Amino acid sequence: MLLKNDILFELLNTEDYISGEALAEKFNKSRAAVWKAIKSLQAQGYGIDAVTNKGYRLTDSKNLVSAQSIRAKMKNRIDVIYCGCVDSTNNMCKRLLADSKQGMFLVAANQQTAGRGRQGKSFYSPKGTGIYFSLVLRPKTALQNAVTATTAAAVAVCRAIEELTELKPKIKWVNDVYLDGKKVCGILTEAVTNFEEGIVDSVIVGIGINISTDEFPDDVEGAGCLNVSVDRSALVAKIADELIKIAGGDYKSFIDYYRSHSLVIGEKIKFIQNGRVSLATALEIDEAGGLKVQLENGEVTTLRSGEISIRKIES
Ligand code: BTN
Repeated sequence: MLLKNDILFELLNTEDYISGEALAEKFNKSRAAVWKAIKSLQAQGYGIDAVTNKGYRLTDSKNLVSAQSIRAKMKNRIDVIYCGCVDSTNNMCKRLLADSKQGMFLVAANQQTAGRGRQGKSFYSPKGTGIYFSLVLRPKTALQNAVTATTAAAVAVCRAIEELTELKPKIKWVNDVYLDGKKVCGILTEAVTNFEEGIVDSVIVGIGINISTDEFPDDVEGAGCLNVSVDRSALVAKIADELIKIAGGDYKSFIDYYRSHSLVIGEKIKFIQNGRVSLATALEIDEAGGLKVQLENGEVTTLRSGEISIRKIES
């Protein structure tokens, strides 16, 4: 973990000033290294007050996330639970559902120790530099509609980022959010089905956004971060409100937005389905969010499963 990320976490969780000496001692670094890390955080947009004989303190509450700060910024009144650190916000939602928690709710965390990604992969979720949360929706519809929650989530994330920052994110089918060629957000949607009634009881939409994470483990490829100072509570609140709106039936406007923000339309892609690699050209996104592609032999097919991984082929 970078020193600046450790320092950011300390500042996020302390209201009072912390001296450079205390930080240096805590992280076993020199005061000069602490000062350099503070300068780097300030350059990234974090408002940090530095006062002689007192130390450092976050001046804006933009980065302080709490259940109250998220709820206060949401239009929808739902339960919000905030954890400093949790194994996985999706797992926590599952535990709460197993305990018969009712209604829609949201679990957010500052760090995950066992963040989960799609296809059994893990999701790197260090403290303080990202935001990790899961929203439990209650669609009470057939599974097919619940599946669209995953594309809706990508739209909700992009809309919120566009509204709160100057950034212009794009979506790589199915639901990876990209900025400048790097993946900055991952989405894992899990449905909890009532098999007897054949309906989806709840859909857990898990979203992880790298806000300032700029170092990743070796096995994480092509990841990046927003690299802007953004109000993290407002970001979570806006995404959740957007998603609830789309899930409530605002399907048309979302599919148009999804298409206009697609990274792959018209591009040559490689996709892997059931272990087989195929080359194709991405043609369009259909009404249900499926990706229509033309294979090399001219055959046109529609990719639907989120378990298909696609790669853009650079020409
Ligand atoms: C992917 O890109 O493979 C999906 C990553 C999804 C990560 C989010 S972070 C919040 C939620 N909790 C998890 O354990 N995973 C999702």
